[in-house]
Amino acid sequence: MMRPLIYATRRLPDEAVTMLLASGELSSWDSAEQPVPREQLLASIGSVEGLLSLITDRIDSEVLAAAPRLRVIANMAVGYDNIDVAACTARGVLVTNTPNVLTETTADLAWALILAAARRIVEGQKLIESGGWGPWHPMQLVGVDVFGATLGVVGAGRIGTAVLRRGVGFGMRLSYHNRRPNLELEAKTGAAYRDLDTLLAESDIIVVTVPLNAETRSMFGAREFALMKPRAVFVNVARGAVVREDALVEALRSGQIWAAGLDVFEREPIGPDHPFLSLPNVVTVPHIGSASIATRTRMATLAAENLVAALHGQPVPNPINPEAWV
Ligand code: DGY
Repeated sequence: MMRPLIYATRRLPDEAVTMLLASGELSSWDSAEQPVPREQLLASIGSVEGLLSLITDRIDSEVLAAAPRLRVIANMAVGYDNIDVAACTARGVLVTNTPNVLTETTADLAWALILAAARRIVEGQKLIESGGWGPWHPMQLVGVDVFGATLGVVGAGRIGTAVLRRGVGFGMRLSYHNRRPNLELEAKTGAAYRDLDTLLAESDIIVVTVPLNAETRSMFGAREFALMKPRAVFVNVARGAVVREDALVEALRSGQIWAAGLDVFEREPIGPDHPFLSLPNVVTVPHIGSASIATRTRMATLAAENLVAALHGQPVPNPINPEAWV
């Protein structure tokens, strides 16, 4: 059998490496933690046919030019805003992603952020760590209720649906916004469709799950935060660039909204000097929405499955631009 050349931009879980080794000649950047430097990437893909990439790799026309034999890029993520898909299609390069397998894990993390931000969990931990916990008092670290509140989800895909489903157990009023109403979501969750401004004005808890694209970039700015309730909790598990961070910092600092729980940031990684870290009402985690052992392993093996299937002319599980190969 033909053994295509494959390059992986990171050291992957063993299960995925085994699959790739079984069907191609694999080389990879030998670090699990650090992204491959740009120059190294460009120098490593001159003859590869399959590229397994991560969200930290910018895949653009420069990369495509450096890989004239490239036929498929398998991104180990559901999001693919790191890839210039139009350029790939124009070059006849198929792009794949890893949907479905991370839906529930990411919805769990959204809920961890909802509860942590609404109930001031991190502030409580810090108070104890600092030795500042004195006698119990009636209004100490009071937060806002999640049970019975109104949950508004922006983005009606799989993750948005899974976030809403969990809201049923919390006795919440559920609503969602999307470019178009999603009847399947409504049937599964009972959530009601709202235009964006109405959702922002009505919701106690707002969760963002939209993909990043030209339409959603910067969709939450000063105007949107001004529409929210003063006790609103804002949670973002999508992409940082859908939010104007300066506007969010201002809304949190001034008390225009109550709190935020953030998994994603405009420029990752952020450091301790980021303005969010100076605000007690912000809970930050380092882009770990899909980070359970089982899910990250499955994302890696699904990316490998996509790559192997494409390279061997078999049906590809998750093509983004099937037209690239027509
Ligand atoms: C994705 O899959 O797009 C996440 O951001 C990483 O899990």
